[in-house]
Amino acid sequence: MKIIRNIEALRAVVASSKKERKTIGFVPTMGFLHEGHMALVKAAKAENDIVVMSIFVNPTQFGPNEDFESYPRDEARDTSLAEQNGIDILFLPSVETMYPESLTATIHAQKRVSVLDGATREGHFDGVLTVLAKLFHLVQPDGAYFGQKDAQQVAVVQGFVADYFLPLKVRVIPTVREQDGLAKSSRNVYLTEQERADAPVIHMALRRARMEVKEKDKTRVLANIRAIVNQKKTHEKIVYLDMYQYPSFEPVEDWEKPIIIAICVQYSKARLIDNEIIGGA
Ligand code: PAJ
Repeated sequence: MKIIRNIEALRAVVASSKKERKTIGFVPTMGFLHEGHMALVKAAKAENDIVVMSIFVNPTQFGPNEDFESYPRDEARDTSLAEQNGIDILFLPSVETMYPESLTATIHAQKRVSVLDGATREGHFDGVLTVLAKLFHLVQPDGAYFGQKDAQQVAVVQGFVADYFLPLKVRVIPTVREQDGLAKSSRNVYLTEQERADAPVIHMALRRARMEVKEKDKTRVLANIRAIVNQKKTHEKIVYLDMYQYPSFEPVEDWEKPIIIAICVQYSKARLIDNEIIGGA
């Protein structure tokens, strides 16, 4: 595995891979790797000649009161996990490497972002698209791999890639869970013991809702999820809970087309998200 920290070295390995006509699978991450990230790697390896992973905690996608500083980081552990999982090129840039100058032009997400994380984390998806635009230009992947856990991110990235005719496939991988159903997340380490014991209720409530959607009563479906989650007392609040058509994130009108139920729950030091997509996806 090659570890690369600067732009020139990355461009050089990408150029030589292209020259050898090797296809490139790209897995962008913020590190503190877990089996969710590794499911993306597995798919990228199966479908490409080489796999590039980036680990970069991207400051532009964090709001001023969010957890950029405290986001978990462990380069030594991540590097050995990346190596064990067969990554060919690990890109570990610094903030100065990715953002040497203030930006002349910005990327502003304006569709699919008026709800959920787009509404509660101002500027978040602008930052996600900005860093991905930089990374896509550097890595020039044939396929880029994203997790369904961040479903709104997937929808925004798919829209961006289509709008700008970016020559890559966006591949979406199902959410990897702990045995008790909790979605794997780098932020799970910030749950207290009691919060960790309670948090699987999020997935349980969403799973149960899956059955009730047949009755086509949005208010009731959401009220039932809320009631189940709130049977546990350790979370601070439900930040959002809603359902939309997927991937447009427009209001539900056609119950036969894919629908997403998405939830965000705030614990003392961790904000967890999860979702279920019903029908189609
Ligand atoms: P990060 O949260 O590190 O996630 C990297 C990728 O792993 C994302 O595509 C995410 O959806 C996926 N992922 C995380 N947990 C998962 C799980 N339990 N199952 C399946 N996939 C999972 O998402 C980001 O980083 C950043 O926004 C990034 C795209 C790297 C841009 O900075």
